[in-house]
Amino acid sequence: MPTASAPGKFILFGEHAVVYGKPAIAIAIDLRTEVKAERSSSFRLDGRAISEIRSFYIREMVRRWRGGPLSMEIRAHVPPSSGLGSSAALTVSMLGALHSFKSPAEKENIAREAFEVEYTVQGGASPTDTSTSTLGGAVYISEKKEENFRWEIRKNGKSWKVHSLSIPNMSFVVGVTGAHSSTRDMVERVRRVVRRSPFGKDVVDEIGSIVMEGKRALEKGDLVRLGELMNENHELLSLLGVSCTDIERLIRPIKDRVYGAKLTGAGGGGSVIALTDKAEEVRRILEERGKSAYIVNIDKDGLIIK
Ligand code: PMV
Repeated sequence: MPTASAPGKFILFGEHAVVYGKPAIAIAIDLRTEVKAERSSSFRLDGRAISEIRSFYIREMVRRWRGGPLSMEIRAHVPPSSGLGSSAALTVSMLGALHSFKSPAEKENIAREAFEVEYTVQGGASPTDTSTSTLGGAVYISEKKEENFRWEIRKNGKSWKVHSLSIPNMSFVVGVTGAHSSTRDMVERVRRVVRRSPFGKDVVDEIGSIVMEGKRALEKGDLVRLGELMNENHELLSLLGVSCTDIERLIRPIKDRVYGAKLTGAGGGGSVIALTDKAEEVRRILEERGKSAYIVNIDKDGLIIK
């Protein structure tokens, strides 16, 4: 029975601005979603008929699938709607399982198709989540081709160049607020700000500059500067209207124990990410105030198909 699994991720710098072609840096984490698939007389998912499935991502993948009916099982360990790339991990792992019934799956093709699925379902997306989940490790998205270039993804006049990025050893803690948000709604909220005001466009440009400075700080291994830049990125995301009280309630009590902290992903709930060398202490505080918290390790593999 083909089995594919793919990791979740957090965005270190650049969420939302990356939808407008700005750069971003994301890191795959050791929380995975696994999909098993086998041929069957009708489409089934965890024993249920496909018509009963509410996930738009799964419906979109089944709509695109040109093979016969399959029975699939999903084991998801990425918390859903939490800014940790659960939909990308699901999409990439499911496409990995589906492709294994056809020719050997190229990671690049899966990353492209996964992006198309997210774009259709979310009504706008960047390839950050889907390419990071496919490649694993740290991923840098930019307008220009640079060292360790992997592939280019284009859509509606925008072009994202996807690169692998080597990063120093760092300790990150993720705190999950427990407040769910829809990436589609948050992307739409930012779109309204950017469309209506030159201020919104300036904030997006400013986030783009922070990503570039963040990349330099990563190259130097300068954790203090990285933390400052995470805090600045968070302030700018707040100006775009994607922070909320659940996020601020997690960030406030850890401020003096971290290099930096910010919301990660779409916002409006979801998760915060903190860079710290007091990981266990920070994890405990985040767990007390939120829903769950993890000291996350970097996933180096990305999509695995067995
Ligand atoms: O919350 P997530 O894991 O779906 O991340 C969304 C990241 C955005 O930049 C807001 C959208 C995108 O497609 O890049």
